[in-house]
Formats: sequence, C-alpha cells, structure tokens
Amino acid sequence: MLKRVSYIFAIALVFSCNSSEKVEKIEKKVTIVDGTERYDVYQGSEMANLMRGMHAFNLQLKKEVESGKITTEFPEAFLKIHSAEFSESKSRNQTFDHYSGKFIEAQKLVFTEDSNVALSERYNNAINLCVSCHQTECTGPIPKIKKLLIK
Ligand code: HEC
Repeated sequence: MLKRVSYIFAIALVFSCNSSEKVEKIEKKVTIVDGTERYDVYQGSEMANLMRGMHAFNLQLKKEVESGKITTEFPEAFLKIHSAEFSESKSRNQTFDHYSGKFIEAQKLVFTEDSNVALSERYNNAINLCVSCHQTECTGPIPKIKKLLIK
C-alpha cells in the first residue's frame, strides 16, 4: 500500500477571529494519500487546535451537566493554553494571560464535588469566561461558543 504525505500551502477560506465574515488566510494543508484514498487536512495553530478541542469537550460536558452526572475529569491538556503557539497574527499578552488563568480556574470548578454553587451555574461560568476572553480579541467564534451555554 502506497502511503504518501505532502505538505502544501494553500489559500483557504476560513472563519477568522476578527469577524464572522470569511477571510482569505494562508493555511497549511496536509494531503495524505493512502492507496487511492486522499485526505485533505487543514492545520490550524497549536492554539486554534486546542480551542477546537476545548469546544468539542465542552459540547460533551454540557450533556453530562444537563443530565446531572459528570463522568469525566478536568482535561490536563487544557493547561496547554499557557504555552501553545498562536496563529501568526496573534500573540500572548497580559489580557490573554489574565483570562486564560480565570478560565482554567472556572473550568476546574465544574469538576469539584464539594461546592455550594449549582453544577450548571459553574459550567456556565466557565463558558462565559470563554466568551469574555473572546470579546477582547477574537470575536468571530462567539456565536458558536454561546451555543454551549445552558439556558
Ligand atoms: C484567554 C483567552 C481565551 C479563552 C479563555 C478561550 N479562547 Fe478560544 N481563542 C482565543 C484566541 C486568542 C484564539 C485564536 C487562536 C489562534 O488563532 O492561534 C481562539 C480561537 C478559538 C476558536 C477558533 C479555532 C479555529 O478553528 O481557528 C474557537 C472555536 C474557540 N477559540 C473556542 C473557545 C472555547 C469553546 C473556549 C472555552 C471552552 C475558549 N475558546 C476559550 C482566546 C481564548
């Protein structure tokens, strides 16, 4: 079976931080050819990939919170928020560090058993910190993040 991996740079239409409009952005595209199958994978920055993972995790966690039973633990991988590399146009700054610290604290509290605050409230507090940070410099994904909130 022939396996070939090629890395090419392509202009991709992606949703950016700055707006919900589509913008042209240079993305690294990885094409994996395995026999006759061909897979195109768009690679974001380390931070963008982490963010997508945090979104997917919380989507699942929302269901658990709604059912009142948490079976997962705080994902240690989230701590990469303190070191992951950003997309070219972005960089770590004091505002980011402030909100990332608060977010991690709030997300951990969701998994604390001895709390007087309702589980759904602790969960929403964490999601609202996603939103707070995004309001400072990355507003594009906010509508998507708000869908994670429990009404
Ligand atoms: C401390 C600030 C901060 C917090 C907290 C934060 N984000 Fe982000 N988020 C960013 C920044 C900055 C980017 C852009 C990263 C880049 O392009 O390298 C981003 C990117 C994203 C993206 C776009 C990823 C892509 O495909 O390009 C999504 C979706 C996202 N965040 C969702 C979330 C969710 C869900 C949470 C909470 C569970 C969250 N974010 C918490 C700052 C934050």
